[in-house]
Order: sequence, then structure tokens, then C-alpha cells
Amino acid sequence: MLKQTLLEAIQAGGVELKKFFNNEFTISHKDGVNNLVTEADHAAEAAIISAIKKNFPDHQVLAEETGQHINDSNYKWIIDPIDGTVNFAHGIPLCSVAIAIEKDGEIIMSSIYAPVLNELYFAEKGQGAFLNDKKISVSEETSVLKACLVTGFPYTYINMSNGPIEVFGRLVKKGIPVRRLGSACIDLCWVACGRFDGFYEHKLEPWDSAAGYLIVEEAGGKVTDHEGKKFSIYQHRIIATNGKIHDELLKWVRDEF
Ligand code: IPD
Ligand code: CA
Ligand code: CA
Repeated sequence: MLKQTLLEAIQAGGVELKKFFNNEFTISHKDGVNNLVTEADHAAEAAIISAIKKNFPDHQVLAEETGQHINDSNYKWIIDPIDGTVNFAHGIPLCSVAIAIEKDGEIIMSSIYAPVLNELYFAEKGQGAFLNDKKISVSEETSVLKACLVTGFPYTYINMSNGPIEVFGRLVKKGIPVRRLGSACIDLCWVACGRFDGFYEHKLEPWDSAAGYLIVEEAGGKVTDHEGKKFSIYQHRIIATNGKIHDELLKWVRDEF
């Protein structure tokens, strides 16, 4: 029932994305001039929550646009109705719906759906990760110098030493390809299926990282914070890799060379 509801909810979100993509929709602004929220984000979030509540009215929900729906349950559904909203608003197909299920503080199942790309990712703790029902696994690359990486930048500039710009500059100056897709969820899925060897970011929220975290781990990858410690979706910094370049990428991010 949990898996069926997760898949119904992700499809319900996907229907809204497909309906609005490249069509007319209203746009408003959150913190920062380019931090957008569209009519499609609200419609997708409402459709997802209604699909969940139909089968699990007592479960907790943490959703990007409507916040916490607190209940007395050890299950929490963590929702990003559109990851890559700026892409979506510009008709760029790199956007997705992301849903993770947390039980007793651990992510046990998740899905990310990029409807315009026709890519549906699914993972269950201990059962592997899948793209359109086909098992996926991370890449075999062992060196950061030969890796293809991806990162993202927050909407509001974060004034910190060794921040996103510094790390990006350090890698790019060495000729290492570092892509910037504009969707942390797709970044994580593409590490999981081996297109990228590693991903790092400095300021993600729980709905950006929760679903992709499990998908990368179940595809055989490794996910930590920037200290190399066990990843928690409730802190901002993430490194997700194929596992083989993890310690080396940590050093590049931390400036430890
Ligand atoms: C954003 C995307 C982006 C990342 C930002 C996120 P949103 O999510 O994942 O890649 O760099 O930090 O906020 O706003 O499109 O849901
Ligand atoms: Ca997001
Ligand atoms: Ca979002």
C-alpha cells in the first residue's frame, strides 16, 4: 500500500507538471529575486497531498510550499512538488516531482519523476534503485580528475568562506567538468544511474535531498555531509558520489589539498 500510494502520488504530481509545462501559469516570488513559485508548484503539491491523505490520513507531511502537516504518526512524507522550478518556468525540461517516505527518522522509500524526460526513479531501502523499472547503479570512475561532476547554487548568495563559488572555481581551474542543471533531484538521480560521478551542494533543504539520497545509496553510491559524516536531510550540505571518488571529492570541497 505504501509503494502503491507513493507511485500514485508521484504520478498525480507529474500530471500537473505536464499540464502546465510550456503553457500559461502564474508566477510569484519567494526569498531572492529568482526564487520562484508557480501555479504548477501549488497544483502539484495539492494533488500529491490529496493522493497521500486518501490512503494515509494520519501520516505526517513536510512539503515545500505548505510546510509541516503535523500528526501523531511515525511516518512522514517529504515532498518537493517541482524541483527545478526556474527551469520549469523557462520551459527547460530538467524539472521533477520528488517524494520521500521517512519512518522513525529514516528514509525507507522514495521516487523522483521527471515527466518531460519520461524518467521515473524509485528506491526502497535494501531493495535497490530503479529507472523506469530497470535496476540502476553508480559509475565506476575512481579519480576526481577524470570525473564528470554536477553542482547547484542557492538562490540567495551565501556569504561563507570556501562557499559554492570557491569550490566550483577550484575544480573548474583544473579542467574538471562540473555541470549545473538547476535540479538537485535530477543531479542525484543522474549520479545514481552513472551519468555523473559525483554531486555536491552547500544549501539544500529536506525536500531537495530526501528522495535522491535514498536513490543514490540504493544504486550503490555514498552520501555524506561536507565533513564526511552520515548524511541528514535536516542539514544543508551534501556530497553524493559513486563511492569510489567520495573521499577525494570531500578533499576538493573542503580545500584540503
Ligand atoms: C532548487 C534546485 C536547485 C538547487 C536549489 C534548490 P527548487 O530547488 O534543486 O538545483 O540548487 O538549491 O532550491 O527551488 O527548484 O525546488
Ligand atoms: Ca527543490
Ligand atoms: Ca520546489
